[in-house]
Amino acid sequence: MITLEGVSKSFRLDDGRSEPVLSDLSLNVPEGEFLCVLGPSGCGKTTLLNLIAGFTAPTKGRVLVDGAEIGAPGPERAVVFQDAVLFPWLTVSRNIAFGLELQGMKGRPLAERVSRYLAIMGLSEEDGGKYPHALSGGMSQRVALARVLALEPKALLMDEPFSSLDVDTRERLQDELLRLWAAHGTTVVYVTHSVEEAAYLADKVLVLGTPPGGSAELAVPQERPRNRSSDEFRAMKERLRGVLSEPLRSVRSHLSPYLEGGFHR
Ligand SMILES: Nc1ncnc2c1ncn2[C@@H]1O[C@H](COP(=O)(O)OP(=O)(O)OP(=O)(O)O)[C@@H](O)[C@H]1O
Ligand SMILES: [Mg+2]
Repeated sequence: MITLEGVSKSFRLDDGRSEPVLSDLSLNVPEGEFLCVLGPSGCGKTTLLNLIAGFTAPTKGRVLVDGAEIGAPGPERAVVFQDAVLFPWLTVSRNIAFGLELQGMKGRPLAERVSRYLAIMGLSEEDGGKYPHALSGGMSQRVALARVLALEPKALLMDEPFSSLDVDTRERLQDELLRLWAAHGTTVVYVTHSVEEAAYLADKVLVLGTPPGGSAELAVPQERPRNRSSDEFRAMKERLRGVLSEPLRSVRSHLSPYLEGGFHR
C-alpha cells in the first residue's frame, strides 16, 4: 500500500549547506502490515513519517500510496504526532468528534463512536466533558490517540505515540492498538526508539542508522499475542539491538539476509 522508491531527503541548513537525512531508501509496506521504524534520535524517523504523510516532499525518489505518487496529505493516512496538541477550546469528547464531523458523521453514530473510543483509551464519560487544560499529560496523549483512531483510517502513521505514558498504560494501549489493527486491517507505520516495542508490535522492522547511514529490514515472524517473557521474544530484542549497533550501509545489501518469513496477525 505504501511504497518508497529510492527516496532521499536533505534539509538546507542556515549556512546554505545541505544536510542529508535519508538517502536512497526503498521500502514496501503491504496493505495490513504493521511496520515499526526503529532508530536513534535524529536518524530521520519523523522525517520518514512526514514524507509518507505528504507533509514534505522527497529531495529525490518517489513516495506512492496505492500505486499513485502522493502530492499532499490525504484522509486515508491519519497521523498521530510525537507531541500531539488538542484543541484547547473543545472538550475531550468534542476533540474526538472533530475529525469525524469533518467527515460528515453526526447524531447517534457520532456519539457512539466517540463513547467507544473514550472507553478504548480508558477514559470515562466524565473525562469526555473536561477541557484539555484539566488533563494530565498521559490523558492528553490518550485523547490525541482516540481522536485519530476514531477515524478508523486505512493507514495509521504514528510517531512514538506511547512514549510519554507509564509502562502499564503503554502495554495496555499496545494491545488495544493491535486489536484495532487486526479488526480493521489497518496498515500501520509506527515510529519508536524502543526495541521492546518494535519486537512486540511489528510484522516488519525498518532500522534506520544515523545519517547519512543506511537502513535494514527485519521480519518479526512470531505469532500473536506475543509473550514478553518468552525466550523467543528476548531473542528478537537482542537481534534488533544487534542491528541497531551495526553500521548500516545500504538498504539493498541488508534486505535479503534479514528478511525471512511472512507476517502474522
Ligand atoms: N525542517 C527541518 N529543517 C532542517 N533540519 C531538519 C528538519 N527536520 C528535521 N531535520 C533534521 O533531520 C534530522 C532527523 O530529524 P528527525 O526529526 O526525522 O529525527 P527522529 O529520528 O525523528 O528523531 P527523534 O527520535 O529525536 O524524534 C535531524 O538532524 C534534524 O535536525
Ligand atoms: Mg522524531
